[in-house]
Amino acid sequence: MKNAAIMGYGTIGSGVAEILEENRDVIARAAGEEIRLKYVLDLRDFPGSPVEDKLIHDFSMIEQDRDVELVVETMGGINPAYPFVKACLLAEKHVITSNKALVAAHGSELLAIAREKQVNFFFEASVGGGIPIIRTLYDCLMGEKIEGLTGILNGTTNFILTKMDKEGWTFDQALKEAQCLGYAERNPEADVEGHDTCRKIAILTSMAVGKEVNYEDIYMEGITRITDIDVQYAEKLGMSIKLIGASRLQADGMVSAYVLPLMISREHPLYSVNDVFNGILVKGTMLGTSMYYGSGAGKLPTASAVVADMIHGVRNAGRNVELGWSAEKQAVAPMEMNVFRYFIRVAGQPEDRLSDLMTFGPLEVVSTGKNDEFAIISKEMPEANFREEAAGVEGIRSVIRVEL
Ligand code: HSE
Repeated sequence: MKNAAIMGYGTIGSGVAEILEENRDVIARAAGEEIRLKYVLDLRDFPGSPVEDKLIHDFSMIEQDRDVELVVETMGGINPAYPFVKACLLAEKHVITSNKALVAAHGSELLAIAREKQVNFFFEASVGGGIPIIRTLYDCLMGEKIEGLTGILNGTTNFILTKMDKEGWTFDQALKEAQCLGYAERNPEADVEGHDTCRKIAILTSMAVGKEVNYEDIYMEGITRITDIDVQYAEKLGMSIKLIGASRLQADGMVSAYVLPLMISREHPLYSVNDVFNGILVKGTMLGTSMYYGSGAGKLPTASAVVADMIHGVRNAGRNVELGWSAEKQAVAPMEMNVFRYFIRVAGQPEDRLSDLMTFGPLEVVSTGKNDEFAIISKEMPEANFREEAAGVEGIRSVIRVEL
């Protein structure tokens, strides 16, 4: 029997406790022995909850208990998650986390400690909720050179954009509902401004290239500037607006990476990834493109990924599983070098404005038949050229990049 502790009894932590109880037999069969929840660390008390008798408030009880071999970190944020996780690894315990902020900021260091101590630092639940994408990258695709990743990696924003698109909801209505359903983080800014997607694509790219990708080097835009009018134009074009995190390995060894709302057509494999679901396209040089799809957020899907990592920890007792992510820094190319087409909404009427806009052409002109405006889709342009040209055009109401 292996003893486990959960640090943080919030949505995911309580889901882990629930699955450990509900699937006790399945888990014992898979792990080869029972996993027993010994402690739940939280600042709060949960009178009447199923873990009431396991609740503790003092981290050192976990750190110093040699019988606890598996520690789940579901507190979120950096402090005190980072010092607690580090201390657990140094105390030769496997640590399993769902915390993308922690992995993105300190992944290289924590993996190095796990390697040195011959334990494991697993973080499947940090990206894609219940989708097994991390293990796919370090295990199933270990013989591949990954040249591209494109994903819808945030359930909350995908839910919001889907509701705006399919139900005509406003951004605020959709955000409120996402929070009620427990998808959105406590602070919605992390979701809607793109930070969450940015950390996830940094983690995936680090896994893909085997080097540390700093999420702060990745260009990021969220969805707060997307309006119902933009959504109407996208519909008219037979397209959909999705918050995409993407990265590509360039021939010069640099990585191009970005997080931004992108207009994608019905033919795009991610077009039908709706609601809280996530979808990830992985392009390998030998495999070609493969796609991974599933629940990207929510209590039980995410907790399921945590539990699978716990079983993986038990199966690899006394042995570090190499995830292939070194501390070497990966250079990220400047955003200005990326090439897109651009959806540009402008004030006025086409007959008066098209001569100003020829610099973006040949153009596709779109109108929704109302308002004092229309839109164009530009030719393919490097971001640097687009910015230079757009700076000289008056009356631009919104810009959304369009898939190539
Ligand atoms: N807030 C995140 C999302 C949770 O909506 O995808 C899962 O990481």
